[in-house]
Amino acid sequence: MLGKIIEETARFIWEKRPWLVLTGAGVSTESGIPDFRSPGSGLWENYDPMEILSTRILWHKPQIFYQVGFPILMGFKNAQPNPAHQVLALWEQKGIVKAVVTQNIDSLHFKAGSRRVLEIHGHLRTGHCQSCRQTYPIEVIEEKVKQKDIPPHCSCGGIIRPDVVLFGDMLPPSFTEAEKLSHQFPLLVVGSSLQVSPANFLPAHAPFLVIVNLSSTPFDARADYLIRGKAGEVLTRINEIIEKLSLKDPNGDG
Ligand code: APR
Repeated sequence: MLGKIIEETARFIWEKRPWLVLTGAGVSTESGIPDFRSPGSGLWENYDPMEILSTRILWHKPQIFYQVGFPILMGFKNAQPNPAHQVLALWEQKGIVKAVVTQNIDSLHFKAGSRRVLEIHGHLRTGHCQSCRQTYPIEVIEEKVKQKDIPPHCSCGGIIRPDVVLFGDMLPPSFTEAEKLSHQFPLLVVGSSLQVSPANFLPAHAPFLVIVNLSSTPFDARADYLIRGKAGEVLTRINEIIEKLSLKDPNGDG
């Protein structure tokens, strides 16, 4: 049964290309990074993110942010892309994917070779001083924290923060671009519970919608195709079918 849906979804993705892709934590669980809300393994089973990863804590209790929140964020810096990231990067090269909008801060889409990635929750490659805005590589920030410069200070005396979007922050300009694209292109959602706004505004605009996710989302009823499965396995199987379709019909004209 799943085989038939995967086959139909592959045809749909090939015919309606190019796609905007929205990814969430579920695209990275097969790289060993836990997601946020899966029962039993989700990160938020143990922590209250609204508290620990918030601008309030960063401003008022930066020691707690750097001693508790920052290590959680940095714990996965050596993770490697999995087949889901790799298929999406390949699809960008082949013109099947226009851009990836990700809620993840793990840089795994870039590591897999995707070029147009809109990181709407920021990333962990750099940080900046909250006073003078000087940029720092994340390794420098990590080293300062290791040397017990907590919170880490800039040469101007200001406090440095990582370039991730914390609870209480404004979203970066990349979200405006994502929103614009979501009106123009069909949307493929991979590994997101679609419970967090404003990322979950995007499916509402999309002309066509495909969802690949292990558990249900509020947009399931609206999806043209819905596959409950693991991102890496499902995208690999879809890609195998698309490979055959593209050989038969390189322009997708019939
Ligand atoms: N393949 C497909 N889906 C998966 C896989 C997998 N291998 N592993 C987990 N999932 C699904 C889960 O079933 C869940 O529905 O991925 C979804 C992940 O949802 P969340 O944990 O809510 O993550 P996400 O949607 O990215 O959360 C958005 O919430 O707390 C904030 O800032 C945080 O960016 C995050 C945002």
